[in-house]
Amino acid sequence: MNSTTPKSVTILGSTGSIGRNTLNVIRRNPDRFFVKAISANKSVDEVRKQIVEFHPETVVMIDPVAAETLRKEYGDMIMTGDDALNEISSRQNIDIVVAAMVGFAGLRPTIEAIRAGKRVAIANKETLVVAGELMTALAKKTGAEILPIDSEHSAIAQCLIGEAPESIKRIILTASGGPFRTRLKETFGSITLSEALKHPNWVMGRKITIDSATLMNKGLEIIEARWLFSVPLEKIDVIVHPQSIIHSLVEFCDGSIKAQLGAPDMRLPIQYALGYPDRLAHEYDVLDLLINNRLDFEQPDIDKFPCLRLAREAGERGGLFPTILNAANEIAVEAFLNEKIGFDEIPRIIEQVIQNSPRDSAQPLNALSDDSINKGIGRIYHADAKARENAQKLVAKKVFVS
Ligand SMILES: NC(=O)c1ccc[n+]([C@@H]2O[C@H](COP(=O)([O-])OP(=O)(O)OC[C@H]3O[C@@H](n4cnc5c(N)ncnc54)[C@H](OP(=O)(O)O)[C@@H]3O)[C@@H](O)[C@H]2O)c1
Repeated sequence: MNSTTPKSVTILGSTGSIGRNTLNVIRRNPDRFFVKAISANKSVDEVRKQIVEFHPETVVMIDPVAAETLRKEYGDMIMTGDDALNEISSRQNIDIVVAAMVGFAGLRPTIEAIRAGKRVAIANKETLVVAGELMTALAKKTGAEILPIDSEHSAIAQCLIGEAPESIKRIILTASGGPFRTRLKETFGSITLSEALKHPNWVMGRKITIDSATLMNKGLEIIEARWLFSVPLEKIDVIVHPQSIIHSLVEFCDGSIKAQLGAPDMRLPIQYALGYPDRLAHEYDVLDLLINNRLDFEQPDIDKFPCLRLAREAGERGGLFPTILNAANEIAVEAFLNEKIGFDEIPRIIEQVIQNSPRDSAQPLNALSDDSINKGIGRIYHADAKARENAQKLVAKKVFVS
């Protein structure tokens, strides 16, 4: 990309934590980026403020009532429906698509952005978990760039610059350990929603905050890293680093380890993905190593946090298993957020949905041709719907494996 002309940006999920941080980066870099289109589900008030400040050409609201409310005020620039999301992701005059929707719902527009050969700055990790193989194969065909926003993957991408793939010994993803790192497993049944929503280091959306508390977030990130960096799962490790100062590391064949450090601020990986290969100057808090002078590391406790094991196993089984894992997790987390199930029931629901899944779920997805990629996406949608249905039944019945 030519770094001198301002780049036009679509933000899918502009009202969320990543979406608002992206707008913050754009606000500080008006000579580099401008907003062309935004989307949200139903946050009408926040979208109104964004229209006034950023003047997008198009706004897509998924909730029809929210869309109708805004259409009365702003007319035809307000659109709704999945086709509209796909359109603002693939429109010719868009340079960068920021995939910041939460969950599986972001899959189709992200695929359309890749199909249209865009730079896709991706926060929406669930899409890479379910369809990473197809997305990366499609990007190779269309020339789309997939650049990570997740701080861990941004760190790894930065560590890998100039390195030969065969020299990578292992990728080490750091995890804060979440709010229950030191809490006794026997008390997990009594964890309240407000306790689980208090992340020690990051302010994020509700779903990823719960995923961080169960460590499912780190499990999803293992699968995300596998596709982003074409590295087999057995070469991807997780280490708990409670300070969240080292965002991740790569160990090379000569025993050298590279790490990327920074203040825990999502604007840094966002602006790195938007501005790459340039580094943009910033005015945020700089990491002061004399104040943050302690770096601790420990093994993740898989017995206490079974979601990490479940995600790795789903990644190893491959095919549709990551889709099934993700769908069951989305339903279980939503049920916990609605206080219908306990915190310790999240992994039990996921495990049972995986156990009940069809035998042929491990059949590989085939990314060889356009046709097979489309068929693969069809299989993913079908498996997602079935797994959600199964998870919903378990939530309703409250009968899980123990
Ligand atoms: N937050 C972080 O620091 C962070 C870090 C790394 C990765 N991520 C990843 O980034 C993604 C977004 O996370 P977040 O924390 O920003 O989430 P969030 O704060 O919950 O925001 C989600 C965004 O998606 C929109 N949305 C929700 N459901 C939708 C649907 N069905 N259709 C269309 N749009 C929908 C929301 O609109 P409304 O406001 O109208 O509901 C909102 O704009 C997730 O995949 C997460 O794992 C986040």
